[in-house]
Amino acid sequence: MSLINVTNLTFAYDGSYENIFENVSFQLDTNWKLGFTGRNGRGKTTFMNLLLGKYEYRGSISASVEFSYFPYHVADPSVLAMDAVEAMHPDYEYWRVAREMDKLGLSDEVLYRPYGTLSNGEQTKLQLAVLFSKENNFLLIDEPTNHLDIQGRELVSRYLSSKRGFILVSHDRAFLDGCVDHILSINKSDIQVCKGDFSTWWENKARQDAFEQAENEKLKREISRLEETAREKAAWSNAAERSKFGVDPIKVDKPKNYRSYQGAQAAKSMARAKAIEKRQNAAIQEKSRLLKNIERSDDLKIFQTPFHTKRLVELKGVTIDYGDGAVCENISFSIRMGDRIALQGANGSGKSSIIKLICGQEIPYTGEVWRGNGLKISYVNQDTSGLRGKLSDFARESGIDESLFLAMLAKLDVPKAQMEKDMSALSAGQKKKVLLARSICEPMHLHIWDEPMNYIDVISRMQIEAVLREYQPTILFVEHDKAFCENVATKIVRL
Ligand SMILES: Nc1ncnc2c1ncn2[C@@H]1O[C@H](COP(=O)(O)OP(=O)(O)OP(=O)(O)O)[C@@H](O)[C@H]1O
Ligand SMILES: [Mg+2]
Repeated sequence: MSLINVTNLTFAYDGSYENIFENVSFQLDTNWKLGFTGRNGRGKTTFMNLLLGKYEYRGSISASVEFSYFPYHVADPSVLAMDAVEAMHPDYEYWRVAREMDKLGLSDEVLYRPYGTLSNGEQTKLQLAVLFSKENNFLLIDEPTNHLDIQGRELVSRYLSSKRGFILVSHDRAFLDGCVDHILSINKSDIQVCKGDFSTWWENKARQDAFEQAENEKLKREISRLEETAREKAAWSNAAERSKFGVDPIKVDKPKNYRSYQGAQAAKSMARAKAIEKRQNAAIQEKSRLLKNIERSDDLKIFQTPFHTKRLVELKGVTIDYGDGAVCENISFSIRMGDRIALQGANGSGKSSIIKLICGQEIPYTGEVWRGNGLKISYVNQDTSGLRGKLSDFARESGIDESLFLAMLAKLDVPKAQMEKDMSALSAGQKKKVLLARSICEPMHLHIWDEPMNYIDVISRMQIEAVLREYQPTILFVEHDKAFCENVATKIVRL
């Protein structure tokens, strides 16, 4: 066992006014299987880059292990996978890599193929195998689940649970639960480390939030009660002041002592007023300590135009073949108004091809594709890498209402300051939120989303699940997050 000590860490990107980290300190054990959670743009990837020594920072980070980062960027995907392995780990030992590959269900045949021809799932598994073959090495695994199908996720989750000594960023609840024993969370106002899996952390957070909300209500009531008492006291002393000149039994009974009596009364009410003020201030101060970590998760809206017929799309006996064997065969299903269809299938089973076909792109197919007359589709692509430029230009080019679009982004926890930035400087999840926010603002007849939850933080996943359940738009989606599918789909189409 050894420790990673982070002490008084402060960091901001060049040219940015806001610190991503400000004087934070915590300790991590290199024996942990550490899940790393926090909303998009909080600094998870940045923190890993700081561990790797990529940027300068204030404070100190000490550790006696070496760090490796996943995903490794293979500069030239046309090289053989074996050469990519060597680039990743120059003194790799073949037997170690082979042993890890075997555990991940990857045959060594893949090593002799050009790296770029490996499916996303195969690339992920190969990289993990190489990184875990290193010794005295602590792995920084940044979102390995994107593009992995459900079986792939289950397998990688099981694999990771047999390992230790890593930090894993993932927004997939079931995946995290399968393989971590501690959680590092970047909250709204602090950073915490706790023992347990994701669900344990989540339950604790929900409990803490509920407790603070109840406390907050109690203190609010107390503060207004104290205000009321202070007001009443003030009204009484005013009334007493006025009554000096009317019939006053005290004045009649004790004319000589009246002045000193009046003085004592004034001192008493002053002391009482002071005590009330003190209690009020204490309550206000206590209240200000609460609710700091309550995350924003406002209700979203989705705009959709009803179609003129119940049936929107129908596929009958569709086979897609790019020239070297069918990608998928004899697929039949229909999309009817109000359906929320999860299109499922292993990596490479043709989900994106089916989606493109429905969207009207040119795909070589046989069979029948029927699309309702004038059907308008709002499509969310898997890929966000093309996003650059200003959000306002993006809204204008997309023909959507800019203020509505920005309001939806704000509800998805994208800070106002980020909206001024060029889109290329947004975090991975923030970019994906740009595409989703545009789509929910587009009043089309059908929404088609290809892996919409990749990179999206858990709370926003829940926001999106909620809006889909509430507004019941017609939607076809491909998504490997098990919890999301269970919460949203009304129908499953398996390829
Ligand atoms: N190169 C950069 N220049 C300026 N700002 C950046 C840069 N990279 C990231 N940021 C900003 O730093 C913050 C943290 O980004 P980071 O990518 O570390 O977040 P993250 O927690 O990994 O988010 P996600 O869950 O979306 O991957 C974000 O506000 C982002 O806009
Ligand atoms: Mg990130």
